Amino acid sequence: MCMALLRLLKSCWLPSSGRHAGSDGAGRQDGLLWYKDTGQHVNGEFSMAVVQANNLLEDQCQVESGALSFLDSGPCGTFIGVYDGHGGPETACYINDHLFNNLKRFASEQNTMSAEVLRKAYQATEDGFFSVVTAEWPVKPQIAAVGSCCLVGVIAGGTLYVANVGDSRAVLGRLVKATGEVLAVQLSAEHNVGIESVRKELQSMHPEDEQIVVLRHNVWRVKGLIQVCRSIGDVYLKKAEFNREPLYSKFRLRETFKKPILSSEPAITVQPLQPHDQFLIFASDGLWEHLSNQEAVDIVQNGPRNGSARRLVKTAMQEAAKKREMRYSDLKKIDRGVRRHFHDDITVIVIFLDSNLISRASSNRGPAASVRGGGERLSSSAYVYF
Ligand SMILES: *[C@@H]1O[C@H](CO)[C@@H](O)[C@H](O)[C@H]1NC(C)=O
Repeated sequence: MCMALLRLLKSCWLPSSGRHAGSDGAGRQDGLLWYKDTGQHVNGEFSMAVVQANNLLEDQCQVESGALSFLDSGPCGTFIGVYDGHGGPETACYINDHLFNNLKRFASEQNTMSAEVLRKAYQATEDGFFSVVTAEWPVKPQIAAVGSCCLVGVIAGGTLYVANVGDSRAVLGRLVKATGEVLAVQLSAEHNVGIESVRKELQSMHPEDEQIVVLRHNVWRVKGLIQVCRSIGDVYLKKAEFNREPLYSKFRLRETFKKPILSSEPAITVQPLQPHDQFLIFASDGLWEHLSNQEAVDIVQNGPRNGSARRLVKTAMQEAAKKREMRYSDLKKIDRGVRRHFHDDITVIVIFLDSNLISRASSNRGPAASVRGGGERLSSSAYVYF
């Protein structure tokens, strides 16, 4: 079990250049900021940036481009993942290590990309992490209270799939021909009980429990504990047998439960990409807390492609500084951990869509990319004794 744990940790924290042969170059680190200003995916260019605020970075992300299955004849395209962890980095890290492979496995079985492939990949990842929790429970019970949001985009054969659990968000920048404007189109919905309709839906699924959602410190939370109602992990709110000692009492519910309180079922949208679709922004809620969809789209549209993700992160941080009436340059000096009082971990991936490449994407073997953002400079020791 310890070896398995160590393997899990190692695969997560080794530098990406060492882990991914064929990677088109790892990013750069500048203090708490990690970025890869520009790279090539089979459907165009991309840009990534991550800024850490938590003591241990809880956001993970990846761009994988090229084959989307293990078959030569299988689907080809680009996979984007943003995983915003909570309670610790373990779940986000596990997703980063397993979700894409699970997707490739199901895409190989079906020899195509589909919503069903995505659904199965999420389920296999949820089940896999549950096995990790079961194995580690005797030595590290708190892992039962670790979870992650999971936002995924797949571009294959001219089609865009977006799958989501939690409160990260994907936004499309779409050119309006008549006016020349680029409009923001939101592609995913947040599963956050701060949103009234989400709260109502959860309440209707648990009519017997008047306390399913409660307002605590002015924030709506599921069972007073967590703001999202869908996630990967958070086993303590899915399987009652993990909601007991030695889990910290703050996570333990007074009464047991029969059906899972949180769901891992992704909301999935499928749509053909249009020639006037310019770019996609995938980001954790740390960005959307400070920028509207249209503000983010304008920032990407009005600047060079190179460094666009980093510009979005910087603008969000400038907004965070403004809200606290401090200078951006002073905010940047605040160390991780304390930084969390000013903003969350922020992950941004911008995917530019080159319509020439999209339309012939199914046969295109273009440049393969495999890049992971952030996290990888932490030593595994910080994690083992967490
Ligand atoms: C991107 O911009 C940086 C400076 O911000 C520059 O050093 C780098 O060469 C640029 N990369 C490309 C591919 O243009």
